[in-house]
Amino acid sequence: MPVTYSEKDQAPVWGEPPPWRTPEFWDQRASSFTEHDKGSGYADAFMKIIEMKSDWTVLDVGSAIGTLAIPLAGKAESITALDFSGKMLELLRQRCKDSGIDNIRTVHGRWEDDWNSLGIMRHDVVIASRSMPLGSARTAVAKLNEYARKRVYVVVAAGEGPRDGRIYAAIGRELNPPSHYGEINLLLAQQGLSAGNAFISYEDTSSYENHDQAFESLKRSIPEISAQEEEKLKSFLRQNLVRKDGRWKLYPVREIRWAVIWWDKEQNKKEVISSITAEI
Ligand SMILES: C[S@@+](CC[C@H](N)C(=O)[O-])C[C@H]1O[C@@H](n2cnc3c(N)ncnc32)[C@H](O)[C@@H]1O
Repeated sequence: MPVTYSEKDQAPVWGEPPPWRTPEFWDQRASSFTEHDKGSGYADAFMKIIEMKSDWTVLDVGSAIGTLAIPLAGKAESITALDFSGKMLELLRQRCKDSGIDNIRTVHGRWEDDWNSLGIMRHDVVIASRSMPLGSARTAVAKLNEYARKRVYVVVAAGEGPRDGRIYAAIGRELNPPSHYGEINLLLAQQGLSAGNAFISYEDTSSYENHDQAFESLKRSIPEISAQEEEKLKSFLRQNLVRKDGRWKLYPVREIRWAVIWWDKEQNKKEVISSITAEI
């Protein structure tokens, strides 16, 4: 068990999620996530990277509507999909029903919960795709590692990630995305683990029916936006939204880039590293 908690943070301490990053926030996004998910090509790109065997079990942390769980269902033995958004899981169950998929189990819970008490045991592969909690990645990475038998895949923003820095600049704020990419690679390197790295990029597929919808949608991604900032955002949208094919889009269209990081648990079997891993 190579990735360990340091003595200092043996008890996982999770930063309080900001009020805007709540299950309700994700519940509201659930229905639009399906469309967004289809358009980007993200799942297809991820499926080309992941190695899967038909007798492997998968834990998908922050599964949403099953962006990855659904395509993985036909390749793995079974999937446990964990998410704190009841709405996302409801849509995932509906998608399973519609497609006759019976090997995905949904678990309504949080990253921060004691997963054992939610009935989650070790799985062959653990995935956390675009769902890392904010703050340091150390505790989250150790937890994923703890629940994996064979391999862990983590997908984090490379660069700006899903947030649009132009929007932040327009309202006078600085966008400080978490630097999970560097942090996780460093953490693994410090443990003597070799990690695989790949990148998935696609054009931002967001488009809007009208200016009001664009404003409401983009506003949600800015925590505690003030009235003054709202006016700046509206003005920015007036200048930069362009109508194409009957929809409004921000131009120039930007690229969203994700880093996929993975590592095997087997590789360091012989290394003597003290571990606090509890028996699962
Ligand atoms: C951007 S979506 C990613 C979904 C999917 N894994 C993918 O890559 O398309 C993030 C998901 O993580 C879930 N999530 C965010 N914070 C969470 C937390 N603290 N505990 C459990 N789920 C969380 C959200 O509800 C949402 O469904």
